[in-house]
Amino acid sequence: MKIKLTHTAAAVACAAAFGFAGLANANTAAGSQGADKTAGSTSATLIAKGSSGTMTPFLVDAEGRTLYTLTKDNKAGCDEACMKHWEPVVSESRPLGRDILPGLLKAEKNDQGVSQVSYGDLPLYRFDGDKKPGDMNGQGFADVGVMVSVLGTADKPEVAAEKVEATPELMAAGAKVFASTCAACHGAEGQGAFGTKLEGFDRLANAPALLSTIIHGLNSMPALGGQFNDEQVAAVATYVRNSWGNSYGGVSAEQAKAAR
Ligand code: HEC
Repeated sequence: MKIKLTHTAAAVACAAAFGFAGLANANTAAGSQGADKTAGSTSATLIAKGSSGTMTPFLVDAEGRTLYTLTKDNKAGCDEACMKHWEPVVSESRPLGRDILPGLLKAEKNDQGVSQVSYGDLPLYRFDGDKKPGDMNGQGFADVGVMVSVLGTADKPEVAAEKVEATPELMAAGAKVFASTCAACHGAEGQGAFGTKLEGFDRLANAPALLSTIIHGLNSMPALGGQFNDEQVAAVATYVRNSWGNSYGGVSAEQAKAAR
């Protein structure tokens, strides 16, 4: 189940530059601020898929505004002033999903007695510092705001923020790891054998999914995270993302660490 979902998301991650998948005017009662605010509104709240570059597709509202969850670990550190920035997404009726996994959507009374929308059990919020579609200013805000992927996972802020260069050093270190470990299954030139063909493989655009495959394994691919340190994982991820017709940029050791 998990694997199928990963594939789906990775495939769509490559689809577009910035775009929302067919946002409908489901929130007709909305007004410019979003219908969900209207207490007692009977209109269903729409949760849709947003994408940007090579990021894992994430959740947006009907207006294309980025949605977040608040990490449990750090929520305690978000005092009243901090919480004022976060507006729960509410829906009096069953929320609607578009190009996401509708089974993960729910609306349930929160501790304020408001019917709050959640996705994969992650309660959803808007951030008041986001003014237009594509803004992601809540990501990492006060160490508490985290965007939610269409898979129902909270993405680590540093993954979204980072741009890493595929330096010759990273590529050389990655080539070593690949030759010693991955080539046996994937072929010396990524041509595929027991393992997937990695030549011209657009799923490599999704760095978090790639790191997860390397570290935690995938079906009959073994978990290799225990064999390599973060630098080595980052290097080999960078190498496969930038060899054999792939050109997706580098991956950092911090990203590898976050994926463990
Ligand atoms: C023992 C054999 C084996 C080794 C070693 C191995 N892989 Fe794999 N790998 C596989 C198999 C089998 C799959 C197909 C898994 C599936 O989709 O069910 C796979 C799939 C993948 C995928 C595709 C994941 C996706 O999204 O479908 C990537 C990327 C990958 N491996 C990278 C690597 C890298 C990088 C290394 C070395 C660090 C490595 N593999 C080492 C067997 C291996």
